[in-house]
Amino acid sequence: MRTRFIVGNWKMNKTATEAVAFVHRLQQELSDIEGIQVGITPPFTALQATRGALVSGPAFLLGAQNLHWEDKGAFTGEVSGPMLKDLGCEFVLVGHSERRQYFGDQDTWTNRKVLAALRHGLKPILCVGETLQERDTGHTGPVIERQLRAGLAGVDGPGLAAVTIAYEPVWAIGTGRAATPQQTVPVHREIRRIIGELGGPATAQGLRILYGGSVTPQNIADFLSFEEIDGALVGGACLDPLSFATLAKVAIGSKPTTTS
Ligand code: PGA
Repeated sequence: MRTRFIVGNWKMNKTATEAVAFVHRLQQELSDIEGIQVGITPPFTALQATRGALVSGPAFLLGAQNLHWEDKGAFTGEVSGPMLKDLGCEFVLVGHSERRQYFGDQDTWTNRKVLAALRHGLKPILCVGETLQERDTGHTGPVIERQLRAGLAGVDGPGLAAVTIAYEPVWAIGTGRAATPQQTVPVHREIRRIIGELGGPATAQGLRILYGGSVTPQNIADFLSFEEIDGALVGGACLDPLSFATLAKVAIGSKPTTTS
């Protein structure tokens, strides 16, 4: 049984001061996370303060939203794996569609970032997903396959075991129009099939595949009723501690019941 993982993607939100207030409130609202994992990804500037606020209370995992693939050097404005590790990060998002869309992160870069994360003991969450045009023209499968195979090139068995995949249809992100489980479950199955080809059946069986795109406290139970969906990457609904806590509580309380 895979442990469910609920991750808040803060994006470019919250100062360090606001992050600390958020964590304290979240700790009040969500004092027990028995049976699931909950991760938060403050901006780089709030990682240190957030880590300080996390020393007591439930074991929320600290993650970052991006990293550079080099360890150090002349890369103005970038942040490396060793820097994130030193701040207590345990995981890092790689290849989020906003990185791909606005900052030019192509598959070769996501691959270098995945490899860099693994090299430094950070668990990558590799984000994949098709645009609306790609879905409408029947290209969802090939796009996901390309993003996965390219993003995970050169990742060995132990590396793959440390990876989480987030399936985030680009058209569902930040739009308030979540995909339906009927749309996402076949993609999750396809992702698991490809991971099986890359790393064998046991790795595929153990790998967590999250859904992301307009997840809310209201719709999370629908997604988690499918055994193919191992959690969620949450943007908008993670910024309010009450909303994020409610969402995580639904994840704690719900069991997969549906087969599509
Ligand atoms: P959203 O963002 O929940 O606001 O759609 C999800 C994400 O971008 O990871």
